[in-house]
This record gives sequence, structure tokens and C-alpha cells, in this order.
Amino acid sequence: MNTIIYAHRGASKKAPENTMPAFEIAYELGADGIETDVQLTKDNIPVLIHDETLRRTTNGIGFVQDYTYDELKKFDAGSWHSATFRKTIIPTLDDLLAWNQMKQLKLNIELKNNLIEYPNIEKIVCEKIKEYNMDNNSVISTFNSKSLKKISKLKYSIPTAFLTSRRSRELVELGKELGVKGLHIRYRLLSKRLVERAIENNLYTAVYTVNQPFSIARVMRNNCYALFTDVPDLAISVRNRL
Ligand code: G3P
Ligand code: CA
Repeated sequence: MNTIIYAHRGASKKAPENTMPAFEIAYELGADGIETDVQLTKDNIPVLIHDETLRRTTNGIGFVQDYTYDELKKFDAGSWHSATFRKTIIPTLDDLLAWNQMKQLKLNIELKNNLIEYPNIEKIVCEKIKEYNMDNNSVISTFNSKSLKKISKLKYSIPTAFLTSRRSRELVELGKELGVKGLHIRYRLLSKRLVERAIENNLYTAVYTVNQPFSIARVMRNNCYALFTDVPDLAISVRNRL
């Protein structure tokens, strides 16, 4: 099985994470998909940024949820990475979905609602995916199990995945109970037995975030369905050599 390679936050080594240049470079490098993180602005616009606050990846301060999108787009989300990306803005989910109309990459849209429970983020994101006809190449993931239950009640046809970094004997059972299609696990949780048990229960396994040839190869050799990497070009070369 060919493990799907998702560029984690885009090609986030070569460009500022979760920006259009990072997505574009991931596409040029040949990644199969893009992984990204969604938060909501004050005016309920889904935007692509990993942290709840602006400090690490922009020249702004404070919480994403305290700004409207018009205010947020004035911040520079590129200079912290390098001067080449000066004035790169925080993209919206619409920007990514519109860009992907031509590219048709796989999309892993992670709801960043484990620290802040954005009201209605589930419906807002599902509606956007539907609007752009991306149901078939998208998956919604989150660490928030309550949120997964909410999505399952909304009855969209978009697959979901449970993200976890916690070791648990009941992970497969939990996945089934949450109605997800996949378990997105941290690398240290990877075992042959977990992958096999997941497959027996019609769940796929994807692993984050693997950036070294050894760990990438190990994920692939264990027949994981997908992996998340900051270095999609390296993962592609490992896959080609297996
Ligand atoms: O979706 C996999 C991975 O991105 C989850 O962790 O913190 O990088 O969003 P994080
Ligand atoms: Ca993520």
C-alpha cells in the first residue's frame, strides 16, 4: 500500500506554515495532500492558523477569535519564517478550497477546537467543504471527541478522524464509538498491532508528524494509510525507495 503523504501545515519547512505559499510549494513538491488547522475569527470566518494566538506566527498579538477577518489580514504571517515571505497573510479556508479546485489535492482540515470551543465551527467548516464540492477528497480531524460526535449528528458525508497523542488500549473502540473513519496518532503510539486492529475494525491509521527517513519508512512499512510531514519531498523520496 502506498502511504498518502500530507504536507503538514503545507510545506512548512520551506515556507511559513499554513500559508498559501506553503500550500503551493507542497503541491510543486508532489505532496498528495495538505494538512491545515482551522480557527474562527470574531466574525466567524474559518482561518488557517495553528495557534489560538497570533504571537508565534504573525506580527500580531492576542487571540485569533478577538479579531474580524478584515483586521486579521493586516498582519504579516510570513516574516517570522524569512524575509522572502514578508507580508504573506493568514489565509481563509475559502482561499485553500478555491485554490484546490484546480489542484484537487487531498485535504486534512483539523479543527483547532481542543482549547477553545468555537461555537458552530463544525457546521461552518462542513458547509464550506460542501460548497466547494470537496467532500470526496477531504477529511476533518480534531482532538476534541465531543466535536466529532457533533459532526456525526450533522449527517454530512465528509469523513472524520480522531486525533490523539494518548496511549490507550481502547483507542480502536473509541474510534468506532465516535463514528470516525480514521485514527490520526502521534508517532510514538505507532505499533503493528494497533494498525492491524484498526484495519480489522474498518478504521485507517495516519501518523503525525514524521520528518526523519527512519520514522517515515517505519510508518510506510506498517501499512499506515497516511502520514503528516513538514518535508513532503523527503517522504516522497523515501516512498520511492521502499
Ligand atoms: O493533524 C496532525 C497534526 O497536525 C496534529 O498536531 O499540533 O501539528 O496540529 P498539530
Ligand atoms: Ca494540525
